[in-house]
Amino acid sequence: MTLANQYKSYRGLPPLAGLCSMQRATQPNWSLDDSVTRLKRLHYVLRRVHEMMVARIPSEPVYELKMAYSHHSYLCAEQVDMIRRRVGEMREPPLGLDKVPDDALQLTLTEIDGAPNTIQFLIGIYSVIIPECVAACQRLGQQAHPLADAPTVRVAKLMVFELTELCQYGDAAVECLTDDPQDPKLIAWRSHLNACLEVAGMIDGSQPSTGDFPQSWHVKKETIYDKQPQRDERFRDPYNAGVNPESFLYNPEFSARDKTLMMYYKRLREIDVPEMMASIIVELRTEEPWDFHMEMCRQLWDEARHAMMGEVGFVAQGIDWTEIPINFTWSHNLNTQLNPRERHGVLFFIEQGLMPKTGKRYEWEVATESGDPLSALFQDFDWADEVLHAQIGRRWYVPRYDSLKEAMAYGDACWSRVLSQWQEYRDQGLTEHENWWPRLYTTACKNWGTTPDPAALAFCETYQDKRADLEQL
Ligand SMILES: [Fe+2]
Ligand SMILES: [Fe+2]
Repeated sequence: MTLANQYKSYRGLPPLAGLCSMQRATQPNWSLDDSVTRLKRLHYVLRRVHEMMVARIPSEPVYELKMAYSHHSYLCAEQVDMIRRRVGEMREPPLGLDKVPDDALQLTLTEIDGAPNTIQFLIGIYSVIIPECVAACQRLGQQAHPLADAPTVRVAKLMVFELTELCQYGDAAVECLTDDPQDPKLIAWRSHLNACLEVAGMIDGSQPSTGDFPQSWHVKKETIYDKQPQRDERFRDPYNAGVNPESFLYNPEFSARDKTLMMYYKRLREIDVPEMMASIIVELRTEEPWDFHMEMCRQLWDEARHAMMGEVGFVAQGIDWTEIPINFTWSHNLNTQLNPRERHGVLFFIEQGLMPKTGKRYEWEVATESGDPLSALFQDFDWADEVLHAQIGRRWYVPRYDSLKEAMAYGDACWSRVLSQWQEYRDQGLTEHENWWPRLYTTACKNWGTTPDPAALAFCETYQDKRADLEQL
């Protein structure tokens, strides 16, 4: 009989398809139950991290963090999805993926959910939970049987790869936003959370539990969720609806080059889509299945990317975007005036309206004609993303209605019911609805070394009585 350590493969080729040594493969200390238990715990934690990040998108004022939450909540959702598929392969229905696997894990995450400020939240997620998820995935990758449980090992390795990036982002974010890294309160918060995790036997339950759960850090326990969008101090005049970029974009009088500025503005203004979609995802948490949340979160992340494309576009043009009022009244009005189903209707109606000839294809054609290759590149992908979003809407919104026509009519009606509050915001002194376009256009022309087109410079159409789809209010 050949012992494992003397076993010879053909001409010394790596045995077992390169998975591991023969010796490792002969070790039997792993079971399907071990695998499912650990995956379910990771599933629970990452799903909660995804939910907590989404819930913070509207009320987190700092734009960069809004974008990071959009990205990372999506990555966590992808990992949740990967785990669900793997668990589903391991002889389990019922999968029991909606069960809380461990009370102490639940309490730990609830502590972070209740973090009263951004820095505590960042530390909880990025300095405690995600690094511990990485550690749990590393153990899983090493301890799962490399041959029998190879699909799990693959999942674990991919998770480590992706989550490590989150840790790096989080470390940098915490460093940038803490005035005093030795702040005793923050150090205590961190060790409190570590102590909580120790009671759970860490994320994967692989360590012995340390006993009783520590006393909660917070006086109030409810989740921090505020659907009212907030922006940081760089967003000046966010109620300003003094320029209607769609009117400019669809006016054949104006040049494609000039229109790229309005498209960059429209892209950057899309910060309001993650703010609005987050509220749908949060408020339908228990009413819709996981696949709904997964796909909606993908779309949310795409919309955040669109906003950042606008940011990049302005940077490439040498324009300081903080000089332009980036309006937030769309997410503000929808989040505060409609319920989540109605908001979803408006979203679908608008996105479906982007599909015909005058919508996303038109934007891409204008960008291509403009001579600005970056605008063409961005509009190309923006168009592709919107096709995907219309499909997501057809899967998750339209089937609730008798027909596509009815679904569209409902979305249109909901949008019509939203009060733009154009006059009210002015009366309350929240904005003057300044026409910022000539300022932006003059700066751009200076950068381009061109003379402004007098007709374009004189553009002064507002949102006072026209919606973004140019429908009269
Ligand atoms: Fe978009
Ligand atoms: Fe979209």
